[in-house]
Amino acid sequence: MRLRINRFTPSRRDLIYSRDIEASLVQPHFVVSGKLRSEEIDDMPGIYRQSVDVLLDTIGRDMDMGLTSHMLFYVMDEELKDPIATMASEPDSPLNVAIRELRKRHGNEIVIFSDVCLCTGTDHGHCGVLEGEKIANDKSVGELVRIALSNAEAGVDYISLSDMMDNRVAEVRGALEERGYHETGILSYSVKYASSFYGPFRDAASSSPKFGDRKSHQMDVRSGYDEALLEALQDEREGADIIMIKPGLPYLDVLKVVSDEVLRPVAVYNVSGEYSMVHKSCPDSKSRGLMIAEVLSSFARSGASIIVTYHAREAFSGKLLR
Ligand code: PBG
Repeated sequence: MRLRINRFTPSRRDLIYSRDIEASLVQPHFVVSGKLRSEEIDDMPGIYRQSVDVLLDTIGRDMDMGLTSHMLFYVMDEELKDPIATMASEPDSPLNVAIRELRKRHGNEIVIFSDVCLCTGTDHGHCGVLEGEKIANDKSVGELVRIALSNAEAGVDYISLSDMMDNRVAEVRGALEERGYHETGILSYSVKYASSFYGPFRDAASSSPKFGDRKSHQMDVRSGYDEALLEALQDEREGADIIMIKPGLPYLDVLKVVSDEVLRPVAVYNVSGEYSMVHKSCPDSKSRGLMIAEVLSSFARSGASIIVTYHAREAFSGKLLR
């Protein structure tokens, strides 16, 4: 456990330790190959898949406004996918290029999270390596380590493990230590449910499983607090720097219980389905602003010191939380 990781840069400290809700927001982005690409995602107004050139401008404007924490998802071209997401660890992948460029442009003023999972790079759409129709835990962790190291090499702040394999935090921490990446942190999606609120995301990231579902690794939506606590405490012991609960609104109670119990900072993921629910029920931006402020306040009140949300830019630019 390296307790200094969350303190290394002023932007990490502001994100994690500020009591201000605005400072705790993280904006997600979808990165694609090519140039001048910017495609709005179905059911997610205002959220785009962008090529690196466009993404750098988008994040540049966010940074000017003071929105300094960003989470990047790699949406791989279909023809590059294979059974183990080989291309996800290429140093020249759009995601790794984006990380390197953002670090060059914004130095330590930006906090960059990279989502690490196999599902956006496998041709079968599953979050791990298949053996028959089963997901092989330890083989999958080996591939996650490979991808995580490529993001660390590019200069990411936090590897964000969203796969829900067992023991992956320990393995990734060990690999980072071995290679000397002592300042690279790990955000673990520790308590992640097999939720029906991820629909618009899977469309955006073209990451739906081609058969079956994610219930053999993501948590059962009926499970109680004990298992949530076991998952969170195990990741904390394995060396996670940030513990995440996901989704947000349907699991506010879990967020409260877990954040009361763990000692590391807690994040919440206000997922794609929650975002589109707000937009569908409230297309008018003025009343939507009030709704967003209410949603984000509920996360802070329940113990989240970091809020990953597609509403971040709107909350920031509209000064909804002041
Ligand atoms: C990758 C991943 C998912 C989300 C974040 N990382 C999808 C999934 O688990 O199927 C969902 C995010 C969202 O819905 O906004 N495993």
